[in-house]
Amino acid sequence: MREVKVAKKALAPITSQCCLGGVTDIKITAAGLRALKGRQRIAALTAYDFPMTQVVDQAGAQLILVGDSLGMVVLGYPDTTLVTMEDMLHHVRAAARAKPKGLLAADLPYGSYATPTDAVANAHRLVAAGAEAVKAEGGRSILPQVTAILQAGIPVIGHLGMLPQSVREEGGYHIKGKSDHEHQALLADSLALAEAGVSAIVLELVTPMVARELTQRCAAPTIGIGSGPDCDGQILVTTDQLGTSPGFIPRHVKGRGDLRAESIKILTTWSENVWNPKTS
Ligand code: KIV
Repeated sequence: MREVKVAKKALAPITSQCCLGGVTDIKITAAGLRALKGRQRIAALTAYDFPMTQVVDQAGAQLILVGDSLGMVVLGYPDTTLVTMEDMLHHVRAAARAKPKGLLAADLPYGSYATPTDAVANAHRLVAAGAEAVKAEGGRSILPQVTAILQAGIPVIGHLGMLPQSVREEGGYHIKGKSDHEHQALLADSLALAEAGVSAIVLELVTPMVARELTQRCAAPTIGIGSGPDCDGQILVTTDQLGTSPGFIPRHVKGRGDLRAESIKILTTWSENVWNPKTS
């Protein structure tokens, strides 16, 4: 397999397509996101509605993902496999109304990209709802779908490692890259996606050593979640970091807030004032 070396000197000068520094007034395009490789680390966050997209955009996220984590953290589903295209479209429309500077990407939900024809049709629907890129889970196994979406002119973000949409087949959320077989498969998948032209690749729960190697060898930026510190960027489910996710919060979420407890406190004070009005 060919190793892709990203020589900083060979990169084009920074243009209006990408930014240096956190918060930016410059719109990030899919090409601009990919061009950040080797220049600047990428902070990416999920968002599912209008105000949340405004907040993560103001926090400087260069990539804002309407993720299908929507299912668990907003819609009360047990996992992402129940999220439908209609769910995604509704939330992408809301997020897009915030007109973020960060690139607005949306997950193709479970079952929506089984064939290249489905993949392109559903990617077009997400774009019509306001997405600027789509994300799909898998590597060489979905390469025809990824290639077809890219040929339709829609940017794609890859997703390798632990694939939440496969949680039922896999019987849980497992770290990937521990065996030589998984390591080699991840390498081949990431190189294939990068060569196809994806804008970035999310690496979820990949062992840190393997994530580092993929980051060094892959021409597209890697964006880690629970995959160690050496990826080109990091992504988090925003509600995990804020402390409002209703369920289990993964171990890789560090320094999180507790806005759920804070919200309950504020609203309890309000309720108590309704029940026992202050007379002053
Ligand atoms: O759906 C999602 O939020 C995601 C992130 C965990 C990367 O895919």
